[in-house]
Amino acid sequence: MIDNNIKYILVTGATGQLGFDIVSELIKRGHHVMGVGSADLDITDDEAVFNFFNAFKFSHVIHTAAYTKVDKAEEEKDLNYEINVHGTENIVSGCYKYGIPMTYFSTDYVFGGEGDKPFKEDDPINPLCEYANAKYQGEELVKKLKDYFIIRISWVYGKNGKNFVKTMLELSKTKTELKIVADQIGSPSYTIDIAKETVDMIESKKYGIYHMTNEGFVSWADFAREIFRKTGKKVNVIDTTTEDYGALALRPKNSRLDKTKLYNAGFDRMPTWNDALDRYLKEIGEI
Ligand SMILES: NC(=O)c1ccc[n+]([C@@H]2O[C@H](COP(=O)([O-])OP(=O)(O)OC[C@H]3O[C@@H](n4cnc5c(N)ncnc54)[C@H](OP(=O)(O)O)[C@@H]3O)[C@@H](O)[C@H]2O)c1
Repeated sequence: MIDNNIKYILVTGATGQLGFDIVSELIKRGHHVMGVGSADLDITDDEAVFNFFNAFKFSHVIHTAAYTKVDKAEEEKDLNYEINVHGTENIVSGCYKYGIPMTYFSTDYVFGGEGDKPFKEDDPINPLCEYANAKYQGEELVKKLKDYFIIRISWVYGKNGKNFVKTMLELSKTKTELKIVADQIGSPSYTIDIAKETVDMIESKKYGIYHMTNEGFVSWADFAREIFRKTGKKVNVIDTTTEDYGALALRPKNSRLDKTKLYNAGFDRMPTWNDALDRYLKEIGEI
């Protein structure tokens, strides 16, 4: 039941991995929340978004909705831009009109992956694929607002959606050997941890651009090995290269994100990716 005297925190993408856990975290902390999926509000529908912002009062908008199929975006270019750029533009317009602070989630893929040093927030961006390019254009739109968080996250997995961990567990039912990319290094990140840190940030009002991931770095191949080791699956992981794997979308080899800014701002150090993986596998009943 919506109460028009209350200002809600709007969460788009509430049916997705991250949005789902952010809604839960907000509710746990006693915030008034309105979580929407695409059936409730299609962010690409200008009139629907306009009417939505006119109808309800929001204290903050957390925009997690996105087109997230990184490889498919190379083929479905228009849909990728329609959702990730035009859809974001609609959300920004609503926030702009009513002076609402906004949180936008972006990605490690906005960087080109040069070298092996973790990327800082203001390092030059160089998106290598359509998805990353659209997500970066979204960042630029959000910067029009007075108060915003742009949070770059990486290699996300959560209970409510598709992700690398679930794909590996699914493949382990039929495969005894898998070739996995070993030359892309980054930080797998658990939506439960991102959700907690995000709500801390929103409550702090320390607006800006931040990098946020679980601690530590690992390759996809070693991450897969750890998933199989923890769950006792007998799958032999063979290292392969980005080039040999030949995914449709090019991804950065160095996906390391520097989180000094996050920690210097007083936010909690995130748990390690390995600790997060343990908790996730427990959450989905795999260990
Ligand atoms: N997944 C990753 O590895 C990763 C890495 C870095 C950054 N990110 C960013 O983190 C955010 C959350 O990602 P995620 O993995 O949680 O996403 P996800 O699980 O794929 O969920 C995507 C969400 O977007 C919604 N959506 C898609 N099209 C929409 C439309 N036209 N109108 C309204 N809603 C729409 C979906 O709604 P329905 O299901 O109701 O259709 C769903 O709730 C995204 O901004 C993503 O770009 C993700």
